[in-house]
Formats: sequence, C-alpha cells, structure tokens
Amino acid sequence: MNETAVVPDLRAFMAVALRKQGVVGAIAPSSPALARALTAVVPTSGTPVVVELGPGTGSISEAIRARTAPGSRHLAVEIEPALVAHLRRTKPWMETIQGDAADLGELLASAGVDRVDAVVSTLPWSLFPGEQQERIVGEIGRVLAPGGAFTTVTYLHAVPLAGARAFRRRLRSAFDEVLTTGPVWRNLPPGMTYVCRRPAVHV
Ligand SMILES: C[S@@+](CC[C@H](N)C(=O)[O-])C[C@H]1O[C@@H](n2cnc3c(N)ncnc32)[C@H](O)[C@@H]1O
Repeated sequence: MNETAVVPDLRAFMAVALRKQGVVGAIAPSSPALARALTAVVPTSGTPVVVELGPGTGSISEAIRARTAPGSRHLAVEIEPALVAHLRRTKPWMETIQGDAADLGELLASAGVDRVDAVVSTLPWSLFPGEQQERIVGEIGRVLAPGGAFTTVTYLHAVPLAGARAFRRRLRSAFDEVLTTGPVWRNLPPGMTYVCRRPAVHV
C-alpha cells in the first residue's frame, strides 16, 4: 500500500471502530502479512471475479489489487456507510457495494455477477448470531464457482472459545474442504486463516 494512504485509512478506521465496535469487531486494520495470507486464494492469472466481505478501510483490498490483472472484477461489500464513502473516494478502482453480506447473492446479481472465483472475508463472525453466520456462509457457498475458494480469519486468542468452535463446525458442514493456516503473528491480534473449497450443497 502506498505510504500516503495509510494515515487517512487508519484515521477513517479508528473513527468508525471507536463508535461502532459492535459492527467493526477489530481494534486495528489487518496487517499486510495477514492480507497476504488471506488473499493467497485470489488467482493471479486470467480475469477472476473476486468478492471481499467487510473491506473496512481497504487493507485487504490493496492485497487483492496487487494479485489481479486488468479486466478482473473486484467487488467489495461493506455495511457501514462512512466506510463505503471512504472506500469509494480512496479506492475508485474497486466496485464498492453498500450492503449486508447476508444479501450477497442479491447484491451480486444487481452487479451482474452470478459466479465468483474467490471470496475473502474479514467479517466479525463472533459478533453475528448463529443464524446470520449460517445465512452468510450459505450465500458464499451458492455464489462460489466450481474450483473457487473462500478465506476468512479468526483471531488466535479466540480459537479455543465455544463460539469459534461452533463457527468451525459450521464451515465444515458447509464446505467439503476447510484448511486452517497460520498463525500469522504479524497482526494485531495474531490470526489464523480458514481456506474453504467445494461447498457441500449447491441450491
Ligand atoms: C474486522 S473489520 C475488517 C476491516 C478490514 N477488512 C481489515 O481487515 O482491516 C470488519 C468489517 O466488516 C464490516 N461489516 C460488519 N458486518 C457486516 C455485514 N453484515 N456485511 C458487510 N460488512 C460488514 C464492518 O463495518 C467492518 O468494516
């Protein structure tokens, strides 16, 4: 990421995170190391369609951009209006959609997209009730192309907690393959990534 973008991004992140910890669910933007780990599933060849869930101020967006060739599509779904405005201003090269990840299929259909090669999420799963997790994971499974992949992060300190265990079970019932990678120590807090492929059910 270019140096001059870091300070305004951090300021915008903190402004929303301090007011809305119940929506943002993180104390700092993801680090470049975590961004690289999460975006390893984004194809570097061809012109893939990539969806980012919960872009915040765009620390993962920059890593996706670094991997994708011109002609690829990069759609970012963010629920918080102030962050949507910030992203549209500072990252005009991606398609920022204001909306709830729970409505993913509908949001993508409005953008003319019905199949996605990679979904990269930093959504705050632990803040969502079980039905909302279930719905978002289901929506991701339905839009993922055969051969596509979905990645997301969990914070290391939360791994043994009941909520995180329940989320892992949910991923394992929704996808044929769920790999855990990491830890990524250079992040605040350190994180693990889940890489999910082959949705168990296509409806
Ligand atoms: C933990 S922050 C991650 C921000 C950034 N991607 C990063 O890694 O630094 C979570 C982001 O998800 C957004 N978010 C929370 N619930 C959402 C939902 N239901 N749909 C879309 N975005 C959501 C928040 O507004 C916030 O920007």
